[in-house]
Amino acid sequence: MAIQVLKPKYRVEECLEEIKECLEVGWTGLGFKTVEFENKWKEYTNHNNAHFLNSATAGLHLAVKILKMENNWSDEDEILTTPITFVSTNHAILYESMVPVFVDVDEYLCIDPVDLEKKITKRSKAVIFVGYGGRVGQLEKVVQLCKKYNLKLILDAAHMTGTRVNGVFPGTWDGVDVTVYSFQAVKNLPTSDSGMICFSSNDYDALCRKLTWLGINKDTFTRSNDKGTYKWRYSVDYLGYKYHGNSIIAAIGIVQLKYVDEDNEYRRKLARTYDKCFENNDKVRIIDAPYKDECSYHIYEIEVEDRDGLMNELAKHEIYAGVHYRDNREYSLFHEDIDTCPKAKKVSNHILTLPLHLWLSEEDILKIAEVVNNYTSGNDAL
Ligand SMILES: Cc1ncc(COP(=O)(O)O)c(C=O)c1O
Repeated sequence: MAIQVLKPKYRVEECLEEIKECLEVGWTGLGFKTVEFENKWKEYTNHNNAHFLNSATAGLHLAVKILKMENNWSDEDEILTTPITFVSTNHAILYESMVPVFVDVDEYLCIDPVDLEKKITKRSKAVIFVGYGGRVGQLEKVVQLCKKYNLKLILDAAHMTGTRVNGVFPGTWDGVDVTVYSFQAVKNLPTSDSGMICFSSNDYDALCRKLTWLGINKDTFTRSNDKGTYKWRYSVDYLGYKYHGNSIIAAIGIVQLKYVDEDNEYRRKLARTYDKCFENNDKVRIIDAPYKDECSYHIYEIEVEDRDGLMNELAKHEIYAGVHYRDNREYSLFHEDIDTCPKAKKVSNHILTLPLHLWLSEEDILKIAEVVNNYTSGNDAL
């Protein structure tokens, strides 16, 4: 059987039961299960606010929008960000007509705090830090820099569901203004498409709830619990969006959340097996993770000299690897004339994501690693 790079696992019967409840009650939209999921998410992560969305992309947009609105930033102002990410991270900056300033990555493929400090200017307003592959990288140092230079910090935690540092979710650290999680189809907590935005400020959370529902001040679920003849009334104070999540998808999220820690433990076990297989191969660079035993391991990446050749070789064995992600500056939208991030540029051509998911056994990992080791033995060093 062919091996895919990513493949979600759903607890089908339990999901169907939870969805059935929505259908029987007759409430499939915003409210009901979305509220339950938000509460369960807060309990799980210890975030003081959580708002369920139809995607993390929507969440990243709102994170930038709300911080811009509430802090009077202008279009010429800059947000420091990483070139090695899914384009949603950087689209969020452009949606709000602000300027992305690319910072180079470190050995964890996260923002390098040394390069970050060099790129801070008078126009810098915020940093978007991506917990790439679930890794926390050097986020602690980035938090300190944001405090020192009075920058807001947005954590793109699309890959970080379940990642902790000494038992604590990094998104809840003092100094992180907003954290956005993704529950897209192949993430650690897959639903189909959805996400969660967690502001540290209650006021921003309240504003966000209006903006995800067209700028309307009271959602239908809240209004349905109101008393009196005026429950249909609402006001519209903002030009908002249709970004909120719904109860059917939240129902799946509620079930998947029960299993995510045990699923992540299994991912870590497989990742350790890969690590072991490559420890004596100097042609393969493992992308290491700090706090390995608490990392969500959303993906398992390696760096090799002949990435495309290795991909072809794996495909001959019906093993389908992937690339997460290309340097965003390779896309015309983000093109830069001067190369400001040499490490990111190099990584982009050598990085490979090996299969890692809950349908794989340790034997599968050994088989994949064997193909990698055999192929790279004939390669040049990195
Ligand atoms: C780093 C990163 N940020 C944001 C997103 C966007 O998530 P969503 O698909 O939920 O909008 C992704 C999705 O792949 C991602 O990998």
